Amino acid sequence: MIEVWGFKPRLQTCEIGIRMTSTSAQPVRLSQRWQWASRQAIGFLMAQAVDNPQVLSLAAGLVDPQSLPIAETREALEHLFADPVRARHALQYGTTAGSGRLRHQVIEHFAGLEGSTVSALGLRPEQLVLTTGSQQLLSLVGEILVDPGDIVLVAAPTYFAYLGTLEGLGARIVPIETDADGMRLESLERVLTELDRQGELSRVRFVYSVSYYENPSGISLSAERRKGLVDLARRWSRAHRIFVLEDAAYRELRYDGPELPSLWSCDPSRQHVIYAQTFSKSFSPGVRVGCGILPDELVRAVCDRKGNEDFGSSNFSQHLLTEVFDRGLYRPHVSLVQQACRAKRDTMLAAAQRHFGDLPVVTWVRPHGGLYVWMSLPKEVATGFDSRLFQVAVKEEQVMYVPGELCYAGPPEGRRRNEMRLSFGVQDATGLEEGMRRLANAVRRVLE
Ligand SMILES: Cc1ncc(COP(=O)(O)O)c(C=O)c1O
Repeated sequence: MIEVWGFKPRLQTCEIGIRMTSTSAQPVRLSQRWQWASRQAIGFLMAQAVDNPQVLSLAAGLVDPQSLPIAETREALEHLFADPVRARHALQYGTTAGSGRLRHQVIEHFAGLEGSTVSALGLRPEQLVLTTGSQQLLSLVGEILVDPGDIVLVAAPTYFAYLGTLEGLGARIVPIETDADGMRLESLERVLTELDRQGELSRVRFVYSVSYYENPSGISLSAERRKGLVDLARRWSRAHRIFVLEDAAYRELRYDGPELPSLWSCDPSRQHVIYAQTFSKSFSPGVRVGCGILPDELVRAVCDRKGNEDFGSSNFSQHLLTEVFDRGLYRPHVSLVQQACRAKRDTMLAAAQRHFGDLPVVTWVRPHGGLYVWMSLPKEVATGFDSRLFQVAVKEEQVMYVPGELCYAGPPEGRRRNEMRLSFGVQDATGLEEGMRRLANAVRRVLE
């Protein structure tokens, strides 16, 4: 029996009394959507960071501050604003799907990542929608495909912010086991078979996969499994289409290891894979440009929803990015980010070896890209917010990590509780070394 979890029908709306200066204050009625969105761990993590500013954070998933593209952005902006006509365009509203020029450039860039050309791949800029970061694309895809009670299949573990997004839509989220090669396809097939037996196949909407250097585990889906995953989605699409939502957020942050094909490229029909990408990791999250390449039937639907939300992401950012591409500033910058992050990854891994090397019960994944090292402790050592380790780490050793259990969907008792996500994005080499030293101290104290 597959237990699908995450959707708890609560038909009554929630009333919350908000203290106000006036004595006649009425209770505020918040929606069910708010209730679904209200259990996010991210708020607690941020509060911990704010309440404990002296704490060294290995938790924040921010990009390397030192390699943010200040000079590139200044050059692009100076150029853009030297021309009043283009400057006025940039400062005006844009369109819902985004600037035609940038869509064209991004689709060309994507074809390059695929090692091909736009025409050889049969791509059209109209298949691409520009969004406010890829988070908005992921959210819009959820909104157009998921009704409360529908099912989404995800890796265990996976990107915890998207688990929050899906819960916020009332989705039932089913975790699929993973190993060193990513999502296990036998497990996925077993879950689909069981859901079919339970008469629930019609509720399955998509499989979500962070295909490169997964946040949090750093693992990439192997080349064989990529083909197999798309194939499974196609085979199990009976009365309706089951999509694969490929989140390629970290694709360009590759430091070594094989260059893997996208899930998108494993779907020559172009019907099953929704591809999400972002310029947050490779350029700047402050610019906040992401995009989706969508099967034809979904472009209109995503734009309809987006029209209701913002009728177009920042036109200014899109013009800025166009200028960055036009002036040839993007690729050299990505190389710089790769170099910087590769060095930081190596620093964190060396520090892990130095401080945890004599503790064979502690293991970690060596990622080929991305921003995270996933560390496992003995089963009995819990890492959650309420654990002794978290308290010792934050209050006494003054170091913070993301508890691994936040990255699991499904019932709490089924989640692994002994893992940590460590980010090498924010700290410099000294901070990484010191953070790992403090963390090892905390772990040793709990293991004693
Ligand atoms: C796996 C993954 N997907 C998507 C995002 C969203 O990033 P953005 O909205 O900045 O593109 C993030 C951000 O950390 C992420 O880790």
